[in-house]
Amino acid sequence: MRKLLIAANWKMNCNLEEATALATAVRESLGAVVGVEVALCPPFVDLQAVKAVLAETGVQLGAQDVFYEDAGAFTGAISPRMLQGLCKYVIVGHSERRHIFGDTDESVARKVHAAARHSLVPILCIGETLDEFESARTAEVLQRQLTAVLRDSDPLPEIVVAYEPVWAIGTGKSAEPEAVNLTVTEVRTLLAEMWGLEVANGIRILYGGSVNSGNIAGYIRQPEIDGALVGGASLRAQEFCDIVFATAATRR
Ligand code: PGA
Repeated sequence: MRKLLIAANWKMNCNLEEATALATAVRESLGAVVGVEVALCPPFVDLQAVKAVLAETGVQLGAQDVFYEDAGAFTGAISPRMLQGLCKYVIVGHSERRHIFGDTDESVARKVHAAARHSLVPILCIGETLDEFESARTAEVLQRQLTAVLRDSDPLPEIVVAYEPVWAIGTGKSAEPEAVNLTVTEVRTLLAEMWGLEVANGIRILYGGSVNSGNIAGYIRQPEIDGALVGGASLRAQEFCDIVFATAATRR
């Protein structure tokens, strides 16, 4: 049985003080939730402070990106070695990284494998643009993005996949849960083709894109969707906790 995961992607929000306050508010209202793993992914500079706030709560920590080299002349980059031991997860290949910062399938693949080599769990984001969606190329795009990362590789000890249609991110236009379930099923089939059915069945696949406390249950009810990557709604502590509570309360 795959454990549900709700991960917060704070993106480029929150200075140290704000991050500490937000993490504290999440900690206070979350209490002990059963059956759902929760992770907060703040900006790099907030990781230490948020880690201190979350100590002994069971809430996990993640980073939002990582470079693929261990060390060297890479101004501005953060290496997996620096994150090792600091956080459990690292988001890789988010559409904002791909579209604004020029991450490619190739660099995303290198980042995923570098993260795994340093015992970090990659949250690999994949998803089609509106143009690709409207021209019925979703399956082709997801296959390309996934294959780039998984081909020629043995199964990683742990990886999470986040299916995030680009047109649903930050737009308020969340994708239909039934349609997402079908797409996620296709993603799992691709995983099975590369890594075998047993491994594929153990990999959590999240949905991301305009998730909120009102629509999360619709996704969680779908048998193939194992949680969510939450952007905008994760910046409000109560709203984020309500997403977690609704997840815990939803029958699968
Ligand atoms: P959103 O972002 O929830 O604001 O749509 C999701 C994401 O980018 O991971």
